[in-house]
Amino acid sequence: MIFYFTGTGNSLWVAKELSIIFGEPLISIADELRKETRELVYSLENGESVFLVYPVHSWGPAVPVMQFLSRWHLKGDKNPSIYSLSTCGDECGHTDKMIRKALRRRGLSLSAAYSIQMPNNYILLPGFDVDKKEVENRKLGQAPQQLKAIVESVKTHANSRADLYVRGPIPFLKSRLVYPLFARLAIQKNAFYATDNCIDCGLCATMCPTGTISLRADGRPQWAKGSCVQCLACIHYCPVRAIEYGKISLKKGRYHHPEMKKNRLDVLK
Ligand SMILES: Cc1cc2nc3c(=O)[nH]c(=O)nc-3n(C[C@H](O)[C@H](O)[C@H](O)COP(=O)(O)O)c2cc1C
Ligand code: SF4
Ligand code: SF4
Repeated sequence: MIFYFTGTGNSLWVAKELSIIFGEPLISIADELRKETRELVYSLENGESVFLVYPVHSWGPAVPVMQFLSRWHLKGDKNPSIYSLSTCGDECGHTDKMIRKALRRRGLSLSAAYSIQMPNNYILLPGFDVDKKEVENRKLGQAPQQLKAIVESVKTHANSRADLYVRGPIPFLKSRLVYPLFARLAIQKNAFYATDNCIDCGLCATMCPTGTISLRADGRPQWAKGSCVQCLACIHYCPVRAIEYGKISLKKGRYHHPEMKKNRLDVLK
């Protein structure tokens, strides 16, 4: 089983590739979180591998992944192989340790953690912007090779390989101090708005994985407070660049995975 969360499609691309390689079904964490039951229960075949694929947000797992793991219940195989595969712009800090700890709370253990560098989509702080086109193309070009090495490691049960996970410098400071601040404060703050460029297409509301965006009677989007997880799908997918976040996004670039552009509806599955 492949559980994924994605904002701008990088993690979905990885999850889809894994789904083809291992012949495993894709399960959207965002869709599962909408279910009303406290426990989210999944039955595993004996020997079935489980993958968690998601973006790194502020040197930790995207918030919905942690919410999901707190409700996750696997039935069947008592000791399943569970692999964490995070996509990041540069580095993951102690994301792997946070996933390991969350699994331990559910009585599960992490078999291995991997990361893949993909184009950066974070643009909401000074000094952060999407990658230059050549860097974006290089990362997209190298992603299949990175994924191949990870698949090889999984298939040969090599477990975590230091070269297939990018921790980066001062991970403790970033993951233990900055991530909790992001998880608690940044996601509550919500300064998105639509400009007059908006053509009322409704795509932002459809793409939002948390149901934060609704459409007003005049077709314009509005953002509810308290549920946004800053995945940035809305701002990057808007076809006419009509979404901004305060003033900080005005001069920043936009990005989403190019394959998702070919068929946007794909992202919704
Ligand atoms: C809120 C937020 C925080 C991020 N923090 C990090 C980070 O700490 N380290 C990093 O390398 N990339 C970071 N990124 C970049 C994403 O991890 C990266 O672009 C990822 O591949 C996006 O995946 P997606 O397209 O599936 O959403 C961040 C992105 C967002 C939106
Ligand atoms: S995606 Fe952009 S153009 Fe479409 S409704 Fe949202 S803000 Fe308007
Ligand atoms: S409002 Fe935008 S950034 Fe927030 S969760 Fe929805 S799509 Fe993601």
